[in-house]
Amino acid sequence: MANLGLSGSFTLGDRQVHRLGYGAMQLAGPGVFGPPRDRAAALAVLREAVASGVNHIDTSDFYGPHITNQLIREALAPYPADLVIVTKISARRGADGSWIPALSPEELTRAVHDNLRNLGLDVLELVNLRSMFDVHGPAEGSIEAPLTVLAGLQAQGLVRHIGLSNVTPAQIAEGRRICEIVCVQNHYNLAHRADDALIDDLARETIAYVQFFPLGGFSPLQSSILSDVATRLGATPMQVALAWLLHRAPNILLIPGTSSIAHLRENLAAAELTLADDAIRALDAVAGTVST
Ligand SMILES: NC(=O)c1ccc[n+]([C@@H]2O[C@H](COP(=O)([O-])OP(=O)(O)OC[C@H]3O[C@@H](n4cnc5c(N)ncnc54)[C@H](OP(=O)(O)O)[C@@H]3O)[C@@H](O)[C@H]2O)c1
Repeated sequence: MANLGLSGSFTLGDRQVHRLGYGAMQLAGPGVFGPPRDRAAALAVLREAVASGVNHIDTSDFYGPHITNQLIREALAPYPADLVIVTKISARRGADGSWIPALSPEELTRAVHDNLRNLGLDVLELVNLRSMFDVHGPAEGSIEAPLTVLAGLQAQGLVRHIGLSNVTPAQIAEGRRICEIVCVQNHYNLAHRADDALIDDLARETIAYVQFFPLGGFSPLQSSILSDVATRLGATPMQVALAWLLHRAPNILLIPGTSSIAHLRENLAAAELTLADDAIRALDAVAGTVST
């Protein structure tokens, strides 16, 4: 079993987590919609993650919708004391699986209560507000109105900590004037490095950067450089991609997603992989060679 302690630790909100965690989005059905193809396998992945030491799981009630959170509750409740479950709000799903912005006060409040109910919790440890000006990537626009609603839910004791997702530096600055922001969850990986400067800025402020699509998302990264480095190290390309992220900055927390126990074990073993300087130099060049 992998020693996740080797990935390092970071304070998320006020809880210590291993820097290598797990993202639960892949557990829902195809397109993150509907039930999983194999429910028993999905439950087994969650149990294996926690048994392996994972203490940071990323989810949302709009995965399924509702289904991923219900799987987490069935597999893991009563939850271990050290487990931090992070969720996100601001979208709902159409009957066709589409992602529809849901940012009115009523929708945000309902989303927090849906997460509480489906996860079986009295309080949500950390809720990310996902900006939806452009569903595919950060786009400018004020987040003041929805973030003020979420801060109000925090004041009511329903939410302990707040993060932002799919946001620009200007939105993070705006958000920090409204409430404490403990993490940012944006798209970033070996090949998609638009947030390089932002990550370093957040590291200086000791704010966690929890990237989504650490392995490339629905189409995992493919690069001859990555494969060559992996072959030299006797590791897999996905392990090298994760080890590079752990090396990239101390505030990076990983939530690779998988519906497979074999992939989960492979990904968690990346905690034990150390990259030498020549490997890092080679991997730094991947961004210029892969389109994302
Ligand atoms: N804030 C946001 O807007 C947002 C958006 C997307 C995701 N997220 C969060 O970020 C987490 C991570 O993102 P993600 O799951 O979409 O993408 P990811 O972690 O980059 O990659 C997941 C994909 O890689 C495959 N995979 C995983 N491990 C593998 C391995 N060792 N070898 C080969 N393939 C492997 C998975 O398929 P298998 O199931 O077959 O392993 C899946 O297709 C999500 O789970 C979710 O919690 C947040």
